Amino acid sequence: MAQNPPTSPNLTCKVRLLLSILTIVIDATRRSNGTVNRRLISLFDFKASHSNKPNDPVKTSDVMVDPSRNLWFRLYIPTTTDVAAKLPLVIYFHGGGFVFFSANSQPYNDLCKRLATELPAVVTSVNYRHAPEHRYPSQYEDGFDVLKFIDTTRIEGLDLNKVDITRCFLAGDSAGGNLAHHVAIKASNHEFCQMRVMGLIAIQPFFGGKERTESETRLAKKGLAITLEQTDWYWKAFLPEGSDRDHAVANVFGPESRCVLGVKFPATIVFVGGFDPLKDWQKIYYQGLMKNRIQAYLIEYPNSFHGFYAFPELKESSFFIKEVKDFIDKQSTCQ
Ligand SMILES: *[C@@H]1O[C@H](CO)[C@@H](O)[C@H](O)[C@H]1NC(C)=O
Repeated sequence: MAQNPPTSPNLTCKVRLLLSILTIVIDATRRSNGTVNRRLISLFDFKASHSNKPNDPVKTSDVMVDPSRNLWFRLYIPTTTDVAAKLPLVIYFHGGGFVFFSANSQPYNDLCKRLATELPAVVTSVNYRHAPEHRYPSQYEDGFDVLKFIDTTRIEGLDLNKVDITRCFLAGDSAGGNLAHHVAIKASNHEFCQMRVMGLIAIQPFFGGKERTESETRLAKKGLAITLEQTDWYWKAFLPEGSDRDHAVANVFGPESRCVLGVKFPATIVFVGGFDPLKDWQKIYYQGLMKNRIQAYLIEYPNSFHGFYAFPELKESSFFIKEVKDFIDKQSTCQ
């Protein structure tokens, strides 16, 4: 008898429960008229405050970029590393369909702290505007404006003897991975004073298109962090009114795209999970990078679901950090 591929990974009860709760909360706060119940989501989206205590392995502070649009970032500086070595800078874009989470949401605060200590690196996590209140291109503008700000501004708490902004990496998960890609395009067409973007770390990035891929059809209704109904809703909330999922910022190498990546587009590592409905679009993205002669790497974890990196107890979450570390080391030495 032919065996169908499995549609669900091996997960502990705790992880399964957390994923179910996440789905219930996200579905309860998205309204059918395309708006979000921000008051309801604020009850579940726990925020971590910044911290600067003597024994913290990572000191964190919040840096305002533009109060008129509440654009700011959280800065993570590891305190335990060798003082002589300058650290790379990771500019991080959180996920959440362009709609949910913030730079100070607990899971992202925890993840950025892990990245800061385990890579190690100075990490800045960008608090960009949300859809549907602010659609494309607000998020890309916010992201790129943070790069220009860091390039030209003397930032309190960021010692230039400690961070090397000629070794800058853009990183993001899910919608943040899409954002990081589009910010990388802007950066590759810009002359910075000092900053140099050396790499792009695309963690289960959110790309799509009108066509349904095999992984979407097979996996997107199984209650594993995301469903097709949710991803369709996110695109609708983010893309210009009247456009569809083949819009060039969603289907980046699709029929409406004239995406030609210049020689300055950075080396890219793409992380894919075997149970992520978006994995086929992520592989199409990786193939598009290769066709554009970008130095690209594809890392697949067969038993992983969308969002696995936020669970430090999963072994793939540790493999992922190790892989990012190797990527940063490799890009830092070979250029
Ligand atoms: C959407 O629905 C909510 C709750 O029913 C309502 O408060 C809001 O005004 C509606 N917004 C639009 C744009 O229709």
